[in-house]
Amino acid sequence: MPSNSVISLRHISKQYHKNDIFVLNDVSLTVEKAEFAALLGPSGSGKSTLLHIAGLLDDPTDGEIVISGKNTKNISDNEKTSLRLSKIGFVYQYHHLLQEFSALENVAIPQLIAGISKKCAMDRAKSLLADIGLEDKFNSFPSELSGGQKQRVAIARALANDPALLLADEATGNLDPETAILVFEDLMRIVQNTGMAAIVATHNYELAAKMDRRYLISEGTLFKK
Ligand SMILES: Nc1ncnc2c1ncn2[C@@H]1O[C@H](COP(=O)(O)OP(=O)(O)O)[C@@H](O)[C@H]1O
Ligand SMILES: [Mg+2]
Repeated sequence: MPSNSVISLRHISKQYHKNDIFVLNDVSLTVEKAEFAALLGPSGSGKSTLLHIAGLLDDPTDGEIVISGKNTKNISDNEKTSLRLSKIGFVYQYHHLLQEFSALENVAIPQLIAGISKKCAMDRAKSLLADIGLEDKFNSFPSELSGGQKQRVAIARALANDPALLLADEATGNLDPETAILVFEDLMRIVQNTGMAAIVATHNYELAAKMDRRYLISEGTLFKK
């Protein structure tokens, strides 16, 4: 049976240290193509933990992650890295741009790492930056950009290798409310146009209300809202 599932988290539990409480306790979540899911929950509830596990940056204590039909439970670290590079885009609360590189180069670099030619990588970087409203900032360095503009570059970088799944961890959490909405609306438009799946952790209920699905983490359990 063909499946539209981009990511399936199956019975995920996470305990950082033996005898600690479980941050996640038998959490299951499937996100399909073109689906935009909000992950809500108070600070410390496990949103980042869930996104790191979904992004193969950390291993669960128990459970399985299936990405585009591939079960990642027993794959090597190298396979995880290559799956992450080709299938997953990550946007963090802090932009983590490389300061000594231009906006264009920051978006081209993940493509070069994936083996794309320099010309193709630069062309795609221009198109992504233009699409997110930075057509006049190609050659600017991060220090020359506003907070919202830096986050836009970080979004373009996350989309650089045309991922199947976008994970955003309070990506607009450091921006003023008006800028946050504008950046977020652009992010949503691009995600919806490309048909990728997205999981977005946010404190912002106004933003969450615009998404297809809302989930709340509380005391280790995931609730559908
Ligand atoms: N690397 C870690 N080692 C130990 N405990 C951690 C680690 N990362 C997060 N935690 C704990 O896990 C819980 C959930 O944290 P986190 O996933 O960052 O929550 P959120 O993103 O919702 O604020 C918190 O109690 C936090 O202290
Ligand atoms: Mg967090």
